[in-house]
Amino acid sequence: MQPVEPHLFVIFGATGDLTSRKLIPSIYRVLTEDGVVAAHNLLGVSRSEISDDGFRRQTNEALHNAGYDGSAVEDWCQRRVFYEATPAGTTDFENLRARIEQIESDLGLPGNRIFYLALPPGAFPSVIEQLGQAGLASGPGWTRLVVEKPFGHDLATARELNTHIHSYFDEQQVYRIDHYLGKETVQNLLAFRFANLLFESAWNRDRVESIEITVAESLGTEGRAGYYENSGVLRDMVQNHLTQLLSLIAMEAPNAFEADDIRGEKVDVLEAILPIDIDQVVYGQYVAGSIDGQPVPGYRDDPDVADASQTPTFVAMRLSIANWRWEGVPVFLRSGKRLPHKTTQIAVTFRRPPVCIFHGVKDECALHQNVVVITLQPNEGFEIRFDVKAPGSPLRLLSQPLHFDYDEAFQKIPDAYQTLILDVMEGDQTLFVRSDEVEASWALYTPLLEASDIEVLPYPAGSWGPDVVDERLGLVGEWVMRDI
Ligand code: BG6
Repeated sequence: MQPVEPHLFVIFGATGDLTSRKLIPSIYRVLTEDGVVAAHNLLGVSRSEISDDGFRRQTNEALHNAGYDGSAVEDWCQRRVFYEATPAGTTDFENLRARIEQIESDLGLPGNRIFYLALPPGAFPSVIEQLGQAGLASGPGWTRLVVEKPFGHDLATARELNTHIHSYFDEQQVYRIDHYLGKETVQNLLAFRFANLLFESAWNRDRVESIEITVAESLGTEGRAGYYENSGVLRDMVQNHLTQLLSLIAMEAPNAFEADDIRGEKVDVLEAILPIDIDQVVYGQYVAGSIDGQPVPGYRDDPDVADASQTPTFVAMRLSIANWRWEGVPVFLRSGKRLPHKTTQIAVTFRRPPVCIFHGVKDECALHQNVVVITLQPNEGFEIRFDVKAPGSPLRLLSQPLHFDYDEAFQKIPDAYQTLILDVMEGDQTLFVRSDEVEASWALYTPLLEASDIEVLPYPAGSWGPDVVDERLGLVGEWVMRDI
């Protein structure tokens, strides 16, 4: 771990939900659990006219809700938390710069700054420009810019945003958040693949029959339907989270565990994916149903959703990676809201043995294939299924699991935001999305987003999406799911 240098952490959108719910508790966890308390100072910025004391109270409350109380919390809020209102305009950013310099001088800070944009995407360009124009894109120490998702709305807007950012900040200063990359189990995909030789020789078209990635949620839009209506599942989940999982599971080994080596390999995989055939994409939107025995309303029942909304809340698709390793191996992605339960799983199914030597064992060779199921949440772990001989005769083959459970092996898994915030403080870009990566991902899905007349099929809340999915995608058998 690199030492965390003293800095000022400036949050734009300081009075928003993300700040209270995620950022402040995660920052405090980093301070206390990762021992960087002396280095950290927080300046909240937003349009609301509240005072330092008002923001300190909000910070205290956010920490209280996250289970942190006591004199250390009070003391940190009192001595190291500040607030500045910047309603708009350039003068406000000049005032902001003066305030930052004042705080730095009062606390003896060296001028290292993190600007975290916890803002709606529409506000990114103007804040970035005003930071640049006020001379805040560089400072006496290092300056880092953290951008929350969504990064662009399609390829054109993502490119525009990248160009805009690069007119003020260098790529080395930019940290684009995809919180899935902060999840320990997602990072562990790299360890699983590249610290163990066991699977490498089998991780290719000769041995693998298919790859499935499922990111299922049982929740609906939870008060965010206004945002979701303009987003839908492709932008909300697939372009970012599922694509990150796909690139980590399919990438080549990087030369080193370094940000640009890893990100370079991820881009290569994305660029090798063939244009997605629209006939192999199935969209759905949930209608009323039930989950865990409880009735659940439909997506269009939400007052913020248009009566005739065609926004997909579910998508499943089949895609192909045209490279030496994966040519001919189908990759199936699916994600949706209001599915039976929350789970993120990757299943890699291996081919059958070339010849079945177990004559007389009814259908056994056809039935079982080796499968590696990686569960990223909840109940994080792996399961590898393989055939064993059942005791006694006649000969019977049974598919049995070999398990690894994260919880059993490690008591505590850090929260994704805690990991990412610490990385920003340390200046490690490995878990952040590079500009070419974000563009390669949008390049893949933008043709789908631009397609007119897409068919969005209804599915009852609590089901696994529209009935036609498996047939349309040419899935052989059923989706592999590890029980959770
Ligand atoms: C967010 C999406 O990026 O990820 C949400 O905007 C979604 O719609 C969430 O619910 C899922 O994250 P997690 O960590 O709960 O799987």
